[in-house]
Amino acid sequence: MHCNEYPIITDEFWTSKQRQASSIHEVSYRACFKPQLPNFFINRFTKPGDIVYDPFSGRGTTAIEAALCGRNVIINDVNPLSIMLTIPRIRIPLLKDIESRLASIKLYKDRKADIDLSMFYHPDTESELVSIRDYLIERKANGRGDYVDDWLRMVATNKLTGHSKNFFSVYTLPPNQACSQQKQIEFNEKSGRIPSYKDTKDIIIIKSHQLQKDISPEIREAMFALGEKAMCVNSDAAKTSQIPDSCVSLVVTSPPFLDVIDYAGDNWLRCWFNNIDIKEVQESITVTKKLDEWELFMSSVFNEMYRVIKPGGYIAFEVGEIRKGKIKLEESIVPIGKQAGFEVLAVIINEQIFTKTSNIWGVSNNQKGTNTNRIVILRKPQ
Ligand SMILES: C[S@@+](CC[C@H](N)C(=O)[O-])C[C@H]1O[C@@H](n2cnc3c(N)ncnc32)[C@H](O)[C@@H]1O
Repeated sequence: MHCNEYPIITDEFWTSKQRQASSIHEVSYRACFKPQLPNFFINRFTKPGDIVYDPFSGRGTTAIEAALCGRNVIINDVNPLSIMLTIPRIRIPLLKDIESRLASIKLYKDRKADIDLSMFYHPDTESELVSIRDYLIERKANGRGDYVDDWLRMVATNKLTGHSKNFFSVYTLPPNQACSQQKQIEFNEKSGRIPSYKDTKDIIIIKSHQLQKDISPEIREAMFALGEKAMCVNSDAAKTSQIPDSCVSLVVTSPPFLDVIDYAGDNWLRCWFNNIDIKEVQESITVTKKLDEWELFMSSVFNEMYRVIKPGGYIAFEVGEIRKGKIKLEESIVPIGKQAGFEVLAVIINEQIFTKTSNIWGVSNNQKGTNTNRIVILRKPQ
């Protein structure tokens, strides 16, 4: 229907052709995109010093890639977890400071969580975890928290559950979220597993080294300066009044796709660790089964993006192919974008032959043997 108005270009644009992403990206998050996706657009549409913004920032893939490329960043997500996962990977502390801070944290032997976590953790691991959690909460409450604490919080959050020995928990699935307590009990019974002791400080140090593998002193310094200037917003993407008018050169983002993913539920344990009220997050996250409700929300997000984007600035808006390809959300986004005042330049479809490891795209499409990203490219007229 739209094929005469703008090109639809299908290729494997970045998945096989681009360099390996930086190690600093390697934290898991539901439905995150690969760093190569924002990199593709940041390099084409911006120059160093420009502002790159993601209104649905998640683990912060766009912001971190933008900072790696020397761009300024603005992030927004309705879940405060997003800022906690992102900013420490832009204001990156030295490994020696991380190690000495960790060494200064007293690990108690008899601490218990205020919720039942026995299905995930050995009692001694739980006690260590609660000691670290209490330390971080207390330091923040007293105004003594700093970027080294922020790093520890980010790494610990990522190590809460997983399926290798380098996680705090017993074997859990899927990899980037915790299932419910009851489901984990059943999973342990079925698989005959019980949580064994894990050394929380060791695991945090190992992950810190892995994340910083590609971070040179020059990159650390340049990113830190950008991290100090980064603007972090924790609002509905349609109501970001803190962000000034006409300042953004490029938005690279992917919104929640109808009700495909339960962002609040999937992050319940991470929210607990970070003392985030899961009910509040649940109420604010946009989840809708109905396409017309989703479109209404997206219209207000596009009006807000129009306000914050510079004349001549771009949007790369990634949408999924959902309900087994029956709904193509880009067909909704094109008229919404135009209505808000943008020009639609193209729809880019990145098609990647499916392999097991590429499933971290979040939207997997096993039957067809491909993973696709469908991205609408728009520009605010000069
Ligand atoms: C598809 S994920 C983004 C993932 C991100 N591209 C990344 O690589 O990590 C969508 C995000 O939108 C957030 N979200 C949901 N409803 C929102 C709203 N109304 N305003 C702002 N953020 C929202 C969710 O918390 C989630 O982090």
